[in-house]
Amino acid sequence: MIELSHVGLRYDGGPEVLSDISLTIEQGSFHYLMGSSGSGKTSLMRLLHMGKLPSRGHITMFDEDVAKSSRPKRAALRNNIGVIFQDFRLLHHLSIYDNVALPLRLLDQPEKKIKSAVTEMIKWIGLGEYGHVRPPFLSGGQQQRVAIARAIITKPKILLADEPTGSLDDPMGDSIMKLFEELNKRGMALIVATHNKGTVERFPHPLLKLKAGHLV
Ligand SMILES: Nc1ncnc2c1ncn2[C@@H]1O[C@H](COP(=O)(O)OP(=O)(O)O)[C@@H](O)[C@H]1O
Ligand SMILES: [Mg+2]
Repeated sequence: MIELSHVGLRYDGGPEVLSDISLTIEQGSFHYLMGSSGSGKTSLMRLLHMGKLPSRGHITMFDEDVAKSSRPKRAALRNNIGVIFQDFRLLHHLSIYDNVALPLRLLDQPEKKIKSAVTEMIKWIGLGEYGHVRPPFLSGGQQQRVAIARAIITKPKILLADEPTGSLDDPMGDSIMKLFEELNKRGMALIVATHNKGTVERFPHPLLKLKAGHLV
């Protein structure tokens, strides 16, 4: 679904923070992205959801060359990708329901369809009673679940999660990993950036390892 070929990334003409990255993300795969702080995990995630374009090399998404795609084409490709950001980025002035509904509203879906999808989704993440609550009143683990719900409400083919269990204790982190495995069983490809070795041992999947911007 996604192919990177000899990709490099630099920010504003600075040094390369990613160098010569080549990798393929297949349908239904599950990878961890590991590496110490500053090794380039978040930057690689940015390339994968087209938040950044590579400064060299090629990225193909669903057989389209990303750099040669028009903005509308890129936006359409982006709809295949769900992202859970390291800092959640929930909208604190909106209810849980409205946070999860937002991507569907941006796609102009009818409110009736949105209601059934969002109601089912917040039940699935175990927050069925919290639809009217705003994010600041939830625990870190609950907010993480809302971020997951918002990322997958449009049924993306790929889910990118940047250190999703980083700020959670083990039981909370493991319950997030179980949600991810359930999504993966339904056919979604996942890339989970983490440096939690315990998580990787309890939920084994292939590793992509970054060291100073190189895949090793
Ligand atoms: N927006 C940015 N502008 C300039 N440099 C950045 C930016 N984001 C990250 N970097 C640099 O890129 C390198 C990789 O960072 P990052 O991708 O955040 O790594 P990780 O997520 O593994 O901690 C670091 O040297 C960092 O300082
Ligand atoms: Mg990071």
